[in-house]
Amino acid sequence: MPPGFLFGTATAAYPVEGAWDADGKGRSIWDTFTHAGGGVVDDATGDVASDHYRRWPEDVEMLADLGTNSHRFSVSWPRVQPAGRGPANAAGLDHYDRLVDGLLAAGQHLMATLYHWDLPQALEDDGGWLNRETAARFGEYAALVGERLGDRVTHWIPVQEPGIATMLGYGIGRHAPGKRLSLNAFPAAHHLLMAHGAGAVALRSSGARGAVGCANSHAPMWPASDDDADVGASKLLDAIWNATYTEAMLLGRYPEDLQPLMELVVRPGDMPLIRQPLDFYGINYATPVRVGAPSGDADLPFELLPVLGRPTTDGGWPVVPEALQELLLLMRARYRAALPPLVVTQVGCAYGTGPDEAGVVDDQARIDFHRDHLQAVATVVRQGVDVRGYFAWSLLDGFEWGDGFSQRFGLVYVDHATLARTPKRSFDWFRDLIAAQPRND
Ligand code: BGC
Repeated sequence: MPPGFLFGTATAAYPVEGAWDADGKGRSIWDTFTHAGGGVVDDATGDVASDHYRRWPEDVEMLADLGTNSHRFSVSWPRVQPAGRGPANAAGLDHYDRLVDGLLAAGQHLMATLYHWDLPQALEDDGGWLNRETAARFGEYAALVGERLGDRVTHWIPVQEPGIATMLGYGIGRHAPGKRLSLNAFPAAHHLLMAHGAGAVALRSSGARGAVGCANSHAPMWPASDDDADVGASKLLDAIWNATYTEAMLLGRYPEDLQPLMELVVRPGDMPLIRQPLDFYGINYATPVRVGAPSGDADLPFELLPVLGRPTTDGGWPVVPEALQELLLLMRARYRAALPPLVVTQVGCAYGTGPDEAGVVDDQARIDFHRDHLQAVATVVRQGVDVRGYFAWSLLDGFEWGDGFSQRFGLVYVDHATLARTPKRSFDWFRDLIAAQPRND
């Protein structure tokens, strides 16, 4: 990897923090969604999660042991502004202030995400991301965090995966706030993109020193066959899932196929706000998606089909490292001079392996997964693609959104009954790999 490459781990607030109502924190849409029951496997909640809010010093010590040079975490908006507006809750900002100092002392570059899906419930009550005012509120929140942490955070991501927040939260209702609006969820995408822009502007004008980027979930689309109908469906999903976010952020426009939906919500000035200069472009990658033309009674203009002949993770995701390579090359081919340096901001896999009798968590499948995905990155780096980092999702097993605690993504095993931490074999493997790199950052 090139000099200064960021080898990191990633977490997010709601999946790991717990302490859902501590120190003046307000309620988020995930608190409401999980407490209502019925939306999450086993009706799990993130009330306690991995207790990272209290146990962070122990977790930071593990990072120091791991030897990574970067860590990605998210700030919980309702800890900072319990009702999503107004002055900061001092206890909330104090928490992140201590965490940031702890991470710095452990030798980490700090990548802070401002929104990983935990919208203050009070804002959802006013329409949430369907309301364009939410983007303005987000800008105010970003300024508060920028003013407090901006002297130390090295990389900022205003909004995590606006596409997933839109589709899973407002499209199909698998995530909070549980709305099922199908393609009518697109106003949420536009407002999340406006929040990205407003957040970038607010961070920079707050005097925050770090690089400002994004973290978008992208997938290469594989048409099920060469038939025009399959190819057309795949192109449409590519526009919906990938290009909506890249084109808006990098080119200040929406793909043509989306314009009829988007012109209902876009107002003058919105697209220039969304298109802020980015210091890096973060890619979150999971799998390729095989797409076919819709069959019979489908209400969507495409159908998602299984990728065949591949091993899968516990979540049923096919493991296809060369599709990460394909994706990174595709980004360069499509956006060329408009594309800032890339960072792989999130790659990970769910495997449920727990401790054996000797207490060892032998998760060879995760080792293979990260080795092969890092190899894919190394291959495109050799082909001249400017990739500056790789963040393994996740440091800790945590609350996996709609999947509750049924999936484990961590390099560190968390016993959800005792909250004890056990570094897995993949942790040791990652440490050895990093130790073998020249540390020249
Ligand atoms: C989310 C993560 C999540 C992962 C696996 C990603 O899209 O950003 O928070 O853990 O999917 O479910």
